[in-house]
Amino acid sequence: LDAKTLLNKLKKEHSLTLDEYRYLLEHRDCESMEIAAGYAKEFQNQYYGNQVYIRGLVEFTNFCRNNCLYCGIRRDNQNCQRYRLNKQEIVDCANEGYDMGFRTIVLQGGEDFAYSDDDICDIIRSIRSAHEDLVVTLSIGERSRESYRRYYDAGARRYLLRHETASPELYAKLHPAELSWEHRMNCLKDLKEIGYQVGAGFMVESPGQTMRDLAMDLKFVEEFKPDMCGIGPFITHQDTPFANEPSGTLETTLFCLSLIRMIYPMVLLPATTALGTIHPRGREMGIMAGANVVMPNLSPASVRKKYALYDNKICTGEEAAECLECLKRRMESIRYQIVTDPGNRAGL
Ligand code: SAM
Ligand code: FES
Repeated sequence: LDAKTLLNKLKKEHSLTLDEYRYLLEHRDCESMEIAAGYAKEFQNQYYGNQVYIRGLVEFTNFCRNNCLYCGIRRDNQNCQRYRLNKQEIVDCANEGYDMGFRTIVLQGGEDFAYSDDDICDIIRSIRSAHEDLVVTLSIGERSRESYRRYYDAGARRYLLRHETASPELYAKLHPAELSWEHRMNCLKDLKEIGYQVGAGFMVESPGQTMRDLAMDLKFVEEFKPDMCGIGPFITHQDTPFANEPSGTLETTLFCLSLIRMIYPMVLLPATTALGTIHPRGREMGIMAGANVVMPNLSPASVRKKYALYDNKICTGEEAAECLECLKRRMESIRYQIVTDPGNRAGL
């Protein structure tokens, strides 16, 4: 085995064995990162040119019934100041985003069942009736297949639900026993079958994660082919059971981005806020490694600090317009261009 040969094989075949992925991850060095980023950019350029898609993120509630060990808004965190946006506030965010040029918005929150299916459908319909060319993406966690279907019928077309890890054993170490890896995977299958464009994804270097676990995530992407794959480093949050665990690294995250682009060249790949948090130019580096999406924050400035999934999250003091301008400048600095477009996956 050697890294160069494996990267050439991956470039041609878009597939490696679990052990081959693992070898690449374990032997990552400057040279293999550079080769992978070069190939990844060829594919990125082939399908998306120098265009970067934007999604406006509305973090509408930080109430959560779950207790994921890594997450700052877990239900047992008493230091988290909870908030909920009402329907009008959410619709206002979407309208503001539309006026700024966003053609897709992501409604994200903790698993907050204070919003019934009727509420969620009502919000989707209100947004869609004002702007029929605004694509609604949901990211509200695990709900029933029936609920997912109702949101789709109300007009939602995309759903982001990271699988978090493709290893059932690691999943069990990152989550309390009441949550199950099988259930999360079933949700992803349901979403795909209903017809959503689906975003999966995982944390890089979460506590206890081995290179074999990470190789399993790459294999999962190869097999499941999510339309979008959101990955970012695990970042410590001081008020969680993982307060003393180290955050994931820039290098491993960038390498994973390049490998994912090579595995599934048409995939939508965000340079995430977490990546921008562990390094001041993390998002730019993410694009240079093969990513093609950024997700500026559209939440009202008054609630941003409260949606603290991890320590030192960026963009919590900015207004929506500032974030968009900031990202435009950042992308221009690396000769990429933010575009006003719903930003479908290539090939759809
Ligand atoms: N509740 C919804 C769900 O479970 O899909 C959406 C919100 S959840 C907070 C969004 C994502 O944040 C998770 O999928 C997880 O990967 C990420 N996240 C949570 N805590 C994190 C941490 N400490 N570091 C990095 N990412 C984290
Ligand atoms: Fe939010 Fe730069 S993207 S301040």
